[in-house]
Amino acid sequence: MKLWSGRFQKDTDALVNDFNASIAFDSRLYREDISGSVAHAAMLGEQGIISREDCDTIIAGLLSILQDIEAGKISFDPEMEDIHMNVEALLTERVGDAGKRLHTARSRNDQVAVDLRLHLRREIEEIAGMVLDLQTVLCRQAKAHQNTVMPGYTHLQRAQPISFAHHLMAYANMLCRDVTRLEDCRTRMNFCPLGSGALAGTTYPIDRWQTAGTLGFAAPMENSLDGVSDRDYVIELLSALATLMMHLSRFAEEIILWSSWEFKFIELDDAYATGSSIMPQKKNPDVAELVRGKTGRVYGDLVSLLTTMKSLPLAYNKDMQEDKEPVFDAVDTVKMCLPVFTAMIDTMRVLPENMRRAAGRGFINATDCADYLTRKGLPFRDAYKITGQLVYLCTERGLTLEELPLEDFQGFSPLFEEDVYQALDLEACMAQRKSFGGPAPEETARQIRNMETFIAARRHP
Ligand code: ARG
Repeated sequence: MKLWSGRFQKDTDALVNDFNASIAFDSRLYREDISGSVAHAAMLGEQGIISREDCDTIIAGLLSILQDIEAGKISFDPEMEDIHMNVEALLTERVGDAGKRLHTARSRNDQVAVDLRLHLRREIEEIAGMVLDLQTVLCRQAKAHQNTVMPGYTHLQRAQPISFAHHLMAYANMLCRDVTRLEDCRTRMNFCPLGSGALAGTTYPIDRWQTAGTLGFAAPMENSLDGVSDRDYVIELLSALATLMMHLSRFAEEIILWSSWEFKFIELDDAYATGSSIMPQKKNPDVAELVRGKTGRVYGDLVSLLTTMKSLPLAYNKDMQEDKEPVFDAVDTVKMCLPVFTAMIDTMRVLPENMRRAAGRGFINATDCADYLTRKGLPFRDAYKITGQLVYLCTERGLTLEELPLEDFQGFSPLFEEDVYQALDLEACMAQRKSFGGPAPEETARQIRNMETFIAARRHP
């Protein structure tokens, strides 16, 4: 029997029951649904809206249901549509009339909004922790490779010398913003819609500050219509997750490139790579490819909810039940990707010789050659032009700049002297890029220290 069957003369069609029900996916909100109800019941008791006895009976009943759900003793009833009505029906079955008093001064509209905020708040904390784990691994790998020279790229063309540490710390810094985006999202999400009722509050003397405080929210939401209507907090989280996945996907793309024979900058651990069913030589970077691939789903989840919400009139509309599957999918996807990605980075073997070999080809010290002439008084544009001509000469002769005889340099400018070879030394080129944020080892060390402070501040606040 439906909780709302009073107004109806007929049973719901079986097709409609299935179509309407959300229990298959919102059952994961059971814990939050119960804590929301416990807080609501306690407030109703405190305010004298229900009796002390009823309040105690309800709370004890809810806690026994929670225990039984966690012990796997309860199977939810699709007839009861969603987690909210399932819990309420179970409660009434257990404690009788007191259970029927729980829904006083409340609606499923504020209930679902409070459940989802509580739930996503917890997921945010878990995901942020996983990002910190990845950053920790990046710091560890970076520490070991502050002097490992590799080519930095633009347009995927070798550009200027950097260290492998510098490259890794670029991602670690992107991930800092992902963590703070999640934190910001949590801060804005952390207001309590409970007490908004169906849309227009209630005539009962409820205390919204009490329930908000009990549930760990900063304050009750200001406007009851807004409280039940908006899903911007879900969209904001989806957007933060889409951005996080975008970062992981770019990183994954580089892992895929780096583990190819064309680069061979890294070798993935056997435990984090896969073979081919036909080609015996293959070692494939499936983990990185799947992270890159799953990024598309998370983008889809964001666009899905944005589209669902775009023309809904206030307040609640059933369309909004469609918020859950995308956000749960995005949360599950990100929580699946992060640990495996972190483990892959943690266990990969870095091949500094190959990075150094690639750095030696591609004239990544050409800027330094131009800077050498500029330091000796030539305007940068002229120095740039001469260096370009030198590079051309080298490509014609199959040489690197550092292999070119001094006479050839001097044929282009008398400013070239023996010390040009020191200026072209790749290790020195990298080490001299000491500008704030640059790849010089002491600069990278500073970045790593700051990153460790960022992580520690969150792990041990
Ligand atoms: N299962 C519903 C949802 O997820 C709960 C809210 C239902 N409210 C309503 N008026 N039908 O959105």
